[in-house]
Amino acid sequence: MLQIAVLISGGGSNLQTLIDRSKDDENCGFKIITVIADREASGLIRAENAGLETLLIDRKAGSENLSNEISKILQGKADCIVLAGFLSILDSSFIDEWKNRILNIHPSLLPDFGGKGMYGMNVHKAVISSGTKRSGCTVHYVDTGIDTGEIISQLSLSVHESWDAEQLQKEVLKLEHQLLPETVSLLSEKWEK
Ligand code: GRF
Repeated sequence: MLQIAVLISGGGSNLQTLIDRSKDDENCGFKIITVIADREASGLIRAENAGLETLLIDRKAGSENLSNEISKILQGKADCIVLAGFLSILDSSFIDEWKNRILNIHPSLLPDFGGKGMYGMNVHKAVISSGTKRSGCTVHYVDTGIDTGEIISQLSLSVHESWDAEQLQKEVLKLEHQLLPETVSLLSEKWEK
C-alpha cells in the first residue's frame, strides 16, 4: 500500500477526492498518512473530519525551513507526496531528495498556462483571454522548475464560448477530481512492483 502525504494551502477539494477514494475503494492502492498545510487552510477540516493526522507548518518560516520541517516529518514514513493545491515553493534540495516521488495537480493542460504566477484563477483568466478552445488539468512530477516536471496524466475539455474564468474553473475542477485519485491509484500499482 502506497503511503501518501498530502500538502494543501486551500479548500482541499482535491484532498477530499483522495480521502473518498481511499475510504470507498479498498483496492485503490494508497493510504493517506498525513495532511500538511502551509497556512490555516480550510481543507484541514476535511482531513480532521476523516480522522487523519494534520499538521500546520507556517510558510512564513521560509522555503528552506518549511521544506526541512516537512522532510523530517515524512522521512521513512511517506512513499510519495501529493501537492493538492499547495502554494509554497519547496526547496530544491528537498525536491532532489524526493525525486519522482512528488506529484502536483495543475489546472491547465501543461506545458500551456504553467509557470510563474500561473496558479488559481490566474490560469483560467489566461486561458479565457487567449481564446484557446481546449483546457483541462495535468498531474505531473515536481522538479525544481515551476510546473515543468514530467507529465503523468491529463484530462481535457472544450472551452465553451459562453464560459468566463469562474465557469472554466468549476469545469476543470470536476476533471481534477477524477484525474488525481485515478492517477495516484495507478501509480501505486507501479510503485508496488
Ligand atoms: C486546484 O485547482 C489545483 O489544480 C490547484 O489548486 C487548486 C486546489 O483546489 N493546484 P482545492 O484546494 O483542491 O479545492
